[in-house]
This record gives sequence, C-alpha cells and structure tokens, in this order.
Amino acid sequence: MLASSATPIPFTIPAAAHAHDDYDYHNETIHCNYPHPVEQIRKESYPHMADNVYLDHAGMTIYSKELVLASSEMLLKNLFGNSHSHSGPSTRSENVTQKTRDQVLQMFNADPKVFDVAFTLNATHAIKTVGLCFKDCFDDFDYFYNLNCHTSVVGVRELASKSTPFNDLDDLNLNSDKQCIIAWTGQSNLNGERYPINEWNKEIKHRDPKCYTLLDAASLSTTSPPDLSDHESFPDFMAVSFYKMFGMPDIGGLIFKKDAAKKILPHKKYFGGGTVDAVALDIPYKEFKDELYSIVEEGTLPIHSIVQLSEAIRIHNSIYGSYKNISSYVKELTQYAIRRLQSLTYKSTGAPMVVIHSPNLPNQGPIIAFSLRNSKNEAIGYFDFEESVSLGGLSVRSGGMCNVGGIQKWLGRDTKDIIRDYNAGHTCGGAMDIVDGKPTGMLRVSFGAMSLKEEVDTLADRIVDFLKNY
Ligand SMILES: Cc1ncc(COP(=O)(O)O)c(C=O)c1O
Repeated sequence: MLASSATPIPFTIPAAAHAHDDYDYHNETIHCNYPHPVEQIRKESYPHMADNVYLDHAGMTIYSKELVLASSEMLLKNLFGNSHSHSGPSTRSENVTQKTRDQVLQMFNADPKVFDVAFTLNATHAIKTVGLCFKDCFDDFDYFYNLNCHTSVVGVRELASKSTPFNDLDDLNLNSDKQCIIAWTGQSNLNGERYPINEWNKEIKHRDPKCYTLLDAASLSTTSPPDLSDHESFPDFMAVSFYKMFGMPDIGGLIFKKDAAKKILPHKKYFGGGTVDAVALDIPYKEFKDELYSIVEEGTLPIHSIVQLSEAIRIHNSIYGSYKNISSYVKELTQYAIRRLQSLTYKSTGAPMVVIHSPNLPNQGPIIAFSLRNSKNEAIGYFDFEESVSLGGLSVRSGGMCNVGGIQKWLGRDTKDIIRDYNAGHTCGGAMDIVDGKPTGMLRVSFGAMSLKEEVDTLADRIVDFLKNY
C-alpha cells in the first residue's frame, strides 16, 4: 500500500496560498548540547538517512554508521561461540554478555546489588514473561493497567482472573485479597503523555504492599531512560526495547528488582536449554539456575546482538555525550513542532489545520499525535496523508498505534465503535480511516536524538500542501 520503494521527490514545496502560517519559525533555534552540531552528526553518523524525513522514532530509531562499523569490527576480530560451554569463544561470549549486563544497569543508574537484567526478544516478550510467571506463581491474580498504554501491556489481562484499566491512581481500587500486578507506561506510545513512575509506585505499594508493579519503559527509554537510583520507590519490573534506543540490536530487556523477582520467576513452569542446573525425567524434578535472568532467557542467547548492544551504549554516549543532552534537545524540538503545527490555519476561516491530541503539551515526550481538519473544521482521515507523504520520503505513523485506550479517549470512540468498524472491514492502521463520519485513528510523528528542525518544517509544508485539496 505504501510505496516506500518509490523514488523520493524533493522536499521543498511552497506553502499553499490558502494557508496562514505567520509564525516566524525561521529565526527559532533549538538548543543542543551535543559534542557536535546535530546537523553535522546527522550528516556524518547517519548518511543512510539522507533523502529521508524520518519522523517515526517511537516505532524504531535509526542506528548510527559508527555502530554498524564498530560492531562489525568486533565480530570480525573476535570469535564468539555458544556461551553454554567452556571453550575460548564460549568464555568470550559469556564475558561480553556479563559486561553488557553491567553497561545496561549503569545506563539506567541501577544498582547491581538491587537490580538485574534479562535479555528478551523485545519489550512485549519482557512484559509477557512477567505475566506468565505470575500466572504460574499465583494462578489466580488481578491485573490493573493504565488506559493510555500499548496492547502489549493490555495482553497480560488474558492471563489474569480479573483485569481493570485505570486512568490514574484516583480510579485504582486495590481492595482485593488476591495478588495483583499494576502495570503502566512511562510514556504513551500514542501521544507522548508521561506518567509518574516513583510517585505512583510509592503510592501503590503504600495502598497494597503485597502487589507487584510493572513499568513499560519501551517508549520512554527512547530518549529519556528512567533513573533507577531511587530503587526503594522504583517498580519491581521494567520492560525496554533496545532497538528503540539505538536503532539496533533488535532485542529488548527485562530489568527487575532481584528481591521481587526471586518470589515470582522461579515459579515459572516451563524450562528450557540454559535455564536449569538439574532435571529428572521420571519425576517432575528440576532445579533452576541461581541467576534469575537465566529463567527468563531460555536457550541460546542472542550473542551477536548482545555484542552490538555493548557497542551501541558506548557509541551513543560518544556521539551525544549523555541521555540528558538527548532528552533536553528532543524536548525543545517537540515544543517547536507543537508551535509550528498549531500555527497552521486556513486563511479563509481561521480554522486550524491540525488538532493535537494530548492533555499536557508543555510537558510531554517527543511524540505528537494529531488529526488534520478541513477548512470547515471537519476531521480528515489519516490514510491519504500518510500514503501521499511517504511517496516523498516522509515517514510518519498512522492508525491506532497499538494503543486502544488512547484512541478511545482522544477520538471519543467506544467498544461498540471498535466492534462495528472491525466488522465493516477496518483494521488497526488500515485504509478505512473514517467510518460513519468518525475517524478510526490518527497521525503520529515522533522524534529521536538526530531529528532536525528542518524535518519539522518539511512536515508543516507537507501538511499545508496536502490540505490544498480540502
Ligand atoms: C510503549 C510501548 N510498549 C510496548 C511496545 C512494544 O515493543 P516491542 O515491539 O519492542 O515489543 C511499544 C512499541 O512500540 C511501545 O511503544
């Protein structure tokens, strides 16, 4: 459907005559504390992004040239074997894996006496593993998850006896004798809305000390990895996707408090290669390894991806200086993008071209969810816009963004709408973007460490150009 292989057309499109955009954006500067100007970084470290306006970092950010070169060199200069034996190549794999675990914990300021990390396929796999272990441990448990979250968090409800979505702690009712997990996202993948981490965790544990907490940090970590130094008040489990942070490797992680994990993970029923120290065949006897992460990891580790991750952490730091730099740069860029999009209005009626779906624009992550409007202020579907701009090399995301709760809240959709639209042929991100006059999804742009101001300007120009037809 999307002609991504089509030849890109040039970006500079004159603003349509009917558009009103008197905001003097040319003179705005985005402050950046990187060791080198961001434009230079983009050109030198990301030559593969040339001719692209890439605004889908919440989906996946882009790897640097240095990362590809350094990890290739590591793999070519060293022999890595399966770490389940004692040979030189095997020991080398084991050593690099342990070093990478230390680097990951250090990156999040996580004390290794308190926390550990298991490598997973992705964030979904990390979240699912917590749910499955919980099921094996307690069988009967209640699950609470915040509304504006990814379907990967919602899915755990299928393992629970009862599940309840919540907006914020005011509607979280924890009066149950049963065990429970409370899961929430640090940053909505839909609209960048951020949720308290330590504050919520403290309050939840105060209300019900026996419950466990799970933070989905897949989106938040992309540009603002959470700080785990105040470990007392941090959630028990945290899921991340490393490809969202560095572009590659394509793996995720489950970072867990050892104290909490000790009570849950060893109850997992399934075991596989690398998980157990002893197994008997005629009785259900097994002994898990002491290292809790091995219970999650099962089987041969993605050793080449782990080598890449080690390099990714080192190189990201050398390109950008720190995540603090990245976080403050993308915050400014996001605020600029919000101002720029809000400045687009129809000359004839003064109606806005763009409606942004977020409750707290001054304080949100680098993700903007929006819908386009015609000059009569009526909603326009997302599909044609995404399709038309993708032909010119502009990447945005459209549809439901795997976030049903956010879409329900911001587009005023309910369960009846979802089922009716599905029966009418609508699928998440599909071409049926308006059903019975109601939008089924929205557009999303998201920024990464190397995003540029001129990409925001191109987006604005493309919107104005597209709306000439409306
Ligand atoms: C907030 C959030 N949670 C979970 C996921 C799922 O991550 P993965 O696809 O790496 O499993 C995503 C992916 O976009 C996300 O943004």
